[in-house]
Amino acid sequence: MQEYGLFIDGKWLVTEKKLSVTGKATGKEIARISVAGEAEVTQAVNAAEKAFKTIKMEPYKRYEVLLKASQLLKQNQKKMAEILSQEVGKPIKEAMAEVARAEQTLILSAEEAKRLTGEMVPLAGAPGCENRWAFTMRLPVGIVCAITPFNFPLNLSCHKIGPAIAAGNAVVYKPATVTPLSGILLCEIFAEAGLPDGYLNLVTGSGSQVGKLLTADERIGFYSFTGSPSVGKTLLNNAGFRRVALELGSNSANIVHHDADIPATAELCAKYAFANAGQVCISCQRVYVHRRVYQEFCDRAVAYAQKLVIGDPLDPATDMGPMISMEEAARTEEWIQAAVAQGARVLTGGKRRDSWFEPTILTDVRPDMNVVCLEAFAPIFSIIPYDTIEEAIDQVNNSVYGLQAGVFTQSLDIARLCAVRIETGGVIINDGATFRTDNMPYGGIKESGIGKEGPQYAVKEMTEEKLIVFKF
Ligand code: SIN
Repeated sequence: MQEYGLFIDGKWLVTEKKLSVTGKATGKEIARISVAGEAEVTQAVNAAEKAFKTIKMEPYKRYEVLLKASQLLKQNQKKMAEILSQEVGKPIKEAMAEVARAEQTLILSAEEAKRLTGEMVPLAGAPGCENRWAFTMRLPVGIVCAITPFNFPLNLSCHKIGPAIAAGNAVVYKPATVTPLSGILLCEIFAEAGLPDGYLNLVTGSGSQVGKLLTADERIGFYSFTGSPSVGKTLLNNAGFRRVALELGSNSANIVHHDADIPATAELCAKYAFANAGQVCISCQRVYVHRRVYQEFCDRAVAYAQKLVIGDPLDPATDMGPMISMEEAARTEEWIQAAVAQGARVLTGGKRRDSWFEPTILTDVRPDMNVVCLEAFAPIFSIIPYDTIEEAIDQVNNSVYGLQAGVFTQSLDIARLCAVRIETGGVIINDGATFRTDNMPYGGIKESGIGKEGPQYAVKEMTEEKLIVFKF
């Protein structure tokens, strides 16, 4: 059985205590990882601190390393995709797409390393400041802690590590406990790309234990976290004056107006709902469909769901694999049973086998059902009819979350109204809430989090803006 260590100061360190990593489709152990305790977490932060203070990485060097890492990732695309497919249970075609996205995320980060700059401050605009020049510089915060989730373990790690390095920071990296193997290969790639020792340190182990140790270390200047709102809130409370970027999920909604292309939109919404078995923060969870086209939309979406190939994630023909765990699938089953007991109707799916859950479409749901008001993170979505666009917008906004929303319409007036009135970090017109490309600002409001991802935005968040004034 392959055993992996922690990666600290450029060396692999195998600890006595180990955790099993399972293939999510087979349930069988595929590797063992080392568990970091207090001593190892401190060692990782020591290494990051030493690297940051003693090895200067000029922006051109950061650019070269990030670009090289992207090239190496491309060379290892198949190997990395197979790891992702096994550790997440994600279909291999989605895993290949995730690696391709991660390559881009690293290229975008490399480009930011060269662009990062402050600004001139026109002090002479204020009386009495004629003999002064002022400008700002963007300086790295020092140590960035990257804590990443299981659903896109590679690309979301690159979204944190890439900008952190582009900004000149050293990183302590904690991948999700159940999907650490892609992160381990990513560290090997960064080492081969020439990243100096100590600039990227990997601590694996139990999420809550390692997370607690990481938040307690005051030398860390910035936390970039993707995960649940409850962990995000704890992190925020513990961070004190240190900065955070939190991406905490949502129950994303789409509005489908009667003038949209209904067959294409129904298929797209179903595709977005079932990608990665629905375990996507911007998965299509709620679809508000104008009553005039509601039945046609339901029929098309159901037909699409019933065509999906569910099976071995490593088979190129597979569209949907298992969920991340039996517990998550059982929780999904409970939510659906509770919704049905309260009057919801299952249009297709609804059944579980171990950690496998059928692509499921519900209707006749109420706003207070878990399947509607909480983040489902499962292959389920609800179709809800509406009569007026104002009513649909109110329903979209009736959420503790606010990450992204989608609106399908040919009317410029409706599109404009939705763009202005929907309360989310992003509104996507004529594509779903699930649309994301890696150079756009991505992040939510309300319980969906704080701060924006996307290298151009993250790189700024991971720096301090310092003012320099010259009097002459
Ligand atoms: C997420 O689940 O937040 C990430 C979605 C994506 O990057 O496509």
